[in-house]
Amino acid sequence: MKLAILSRNPRLYSTRRLVEAGRQRGHVVRVLDPLRCYMRIDAGRFDLRYKGRTLSGFDAVIPRIGASVTRYGTAVLRQFELMGCHTPNPSDAILRARDKLRAHQLLAAHGIDLPATVFGDNPDDTADLLALLGAPPHVIKLNEGSQGAGVMLTEKLSASQSVVEALRGLYASFVVQEFVEEAQGADLRCFVVGERVVAAMRRQAPEGDFRSNLHRGGQAAAATATAEQAAVAVRAAATLGLAVAGVDLIGSARGPLVLEVNSTPGLEGIEQVSGVDIAGAIVELVACGAVNRKHSGRRAAP
Ligand SMILES: Nc1ncnc2c1ncn2[C@@H]1O[C@H](COP(=O)(O)OP(=O)(O)OP(=O)(O)O)[C@@H](O)[C@H]1O
Ligand SMILES: [Mg+2]
Repeated sequence: MKLAILSRNPRLYSTRRLVEAGRQRGHVVRVLDPLRCYMRIDAGRFDLRYKGRTLSGFDAVIPRIGASVTRYGTAVLRQFELMGCHTPNPSDAILRARDKLRAHQLLAAHGIDLPATVFGDNPDDTADLLALLGAPPHVIKLNEGSQGAGVMLTEKLSASQSVVEALRGLYASFVVQEFVEEAQGADLRCFVVGERVVAAMRRQAPEGDFRSNLHRGGQAAAATATAEQAAVAVRAAATLGLAVAGVDLIGSARGPLVLEVNSTPGLEGIEQVSGVDIAGAIVELVACGAVNRKHSGRRAAP
């Protein structure tokens, strides 16, 4: 198969591993910077170009699109899709996962349990909004936050109110959640490939913090997802339409809750901690999907 990896940086661990895994399996692999792809679109025909040359003949594409280039990156990916190229994570699925409110709504609508979450727009509604959630402690999260930055714990209602007012003053978009104390600062990253959790890693917050992000000093350790956790993770990824996803779960008294579904999960920490060849699993899944697409008679890229 001729495989494109859409990634801004070929030197990143995840990109390097996918290239290596593809080449080991006899595929032709090219890393393309999505921001260097440009295109002409006309009724019924396209020209997708890269550094002065037309891109053609790709059977599959693995998108590794960072949050800062979501819009342009998914437009490029959509062009590959329109040209008949197979992708484990379609552009629409990535957009669903990136929009936290939308992802939460979809997951909840499909019966996937999350920490109870509220959001609203008008300051006049803040008191009722917080009442709707229940008593503190509350976790307040910026929708644009990542790696634990912008995730706050408020122990008192007055604190929740002031944080919400301050964020409104800054025109920040945020959600407020119930604090799942039973999780005790731990979460479980489940790496979903197709219908399976191929690797899992437990992250534990440092003493005195409730956020388990490795960037906040959290510790990672190998872990095995239970059948229940694996089923929730696979269902969450499938609900958003992602065949490759990092699903973060926290344990609660009522079972595993989904915190986040990441459409471009990093391979470095989890491959090292688990010893699993995740890149290989992704390439094999993608190769299978590309073959099925060919057999089902859908047009391959011109
Ligand atoms: N409702 C909650 N109750 C208890 N702990 C939570 C809750 N929400 C988040 N946490 C803890 O805080 C950490 C960071 O939260 P979260 O993953 O939602 O934000 P982020 O990592 O900054 O953003 P993202 O994962 O979307 O990039 C989680 O890994 C978890 O350990
Ligand atoms: Mg997170």
